[in-house]
Amino acid sequence: MSIFMNEKTILKVKNLKTYFYTDKGEGRAVDNISFNLKKEKILAIVGESGCGKSVTALSILKLIEPPGKIVGGEILFNNINLLKLTNEEIRKIRGNKIGIIFQDPMMSLNPVFKAGEQIVETILTHKDMTKKEAKDLSLSLFEKVKLPDPEKVFNSYPHELSGGMRQRVMIAIALCCNPDILIADEPTTALDVTTQERVLDLIKELQSNSELSVLFITHDFRIVNKIADEVIVMYGGKIVEYRDKNSILKNPLHPYTKGLINSIPPVDKKIEKLPVIEGEVPDIFKNIKGCKFADRCKLSKEICFEKFPEKIKVDSNYSVFCWNYS
Ligand SMILES: Nc1ncnc2c1ncn2[C@@H]1O[C@H](COP(=O)(O)OP(=O)(O)OP(=O)(O)O)[C@@H](O)[C@H]1O
Ligand SMILES: [Mg+2]
Repeated sequence: MSIFMNEKTILKVKNLKTYFYTDKGEGRAVDNISFNLKKEKILAIVGESGCGKSVTALSILKLIEPPGKIVGGEILFNNINLLKLTNEEIRKIRGNKIGIIFQDPMMSLNPVFKAGEQIVETILTHKDMTKKEAKDLSLSLFEKVKLPDPEKVFNSYPHELSGGMRQRVMIAIALCCNPDILIADEPTTALDVTTQERVLDLIKELQSNSELSVLFITHDFRIVNKIADEVIVMYGGKIVEYRDKNSILKNPLHPYTKGLINSIPPVDKKIEKLPVIEGEVPDIFKNIKGCKFADRCKLSKEICFEKFPEKIKVDSNYSVFCWNYS
């Protein structure tokens, strides 16, 4: 085992940089981030729109296409650097060892094939099974994700299913090869609140029963509270805070994290106007040498505009990147 990897880490992302090259120049969508996904834990990545959450997820599976490019870093999965694999090799891992679900299942389900055909095809791509065995496995997975009438769903086209059912089909497909890791990119955003709750409960249940490690992307701290063990807060392609869930919610350190948490609507009382973080996320093409949040931050001082903050250790595992703490 590598000295970098303690036995509890299943995925180690190290100094990942993913840039986009357009006529505006070099856009640093993911700007040198490092984190560990621990075995059988749920790690949430949270941040506003455009902070680099999806680009991080896509980079892990080498799904970045031009004008995007992974320009640096390592992604270690079982001590293998995924970024060094050929397309053929990464295809064997994608959908097999690492499953992924996206925000909008209509994007990832093919509208012209029945749900059953799609899951069977995924299974047959990775597993040495007969069609009959793959169908039986599909039906048992549909049952596992609590789809009513699995046989009927198997024979339905995506548009014949509700949003919640489509998302359950996606989860079944993502889990069909018994992956070690599930990457879920805002999987419940397109759903109504009740369905959202049910799908979150399902992911949590599957995670604890199937020795699954989950990277869960969301912009919503209420979902973080419900599902995560650990939290990464991303801003402008950088990690600004990396903590365990309970301590970040109780005592957020970075001003950006505080802003996100303060803008959660309370459940028990009505508030006329929630505090919002004034301003906008930075343009990835803008060259910012200091903290990317400095121009929106009420606590920023001179150095914040000059230099990206050093990593401040909160304890042995966790950290915050903010000049107010050094
Ligand atoms: N194909 C692309 N070409 C150019 N820029 C891109 C491309 N894909 C993403 N980006 C840029 O990279 C940055 C990060 O995008 P990303 O999709 O990771 O954001 P996100 O945090 O997932 O946001 P959201 O919450 O809206 O999904 C954004 O500024 C986005 O405009
Ligand atoms: Mg996204």
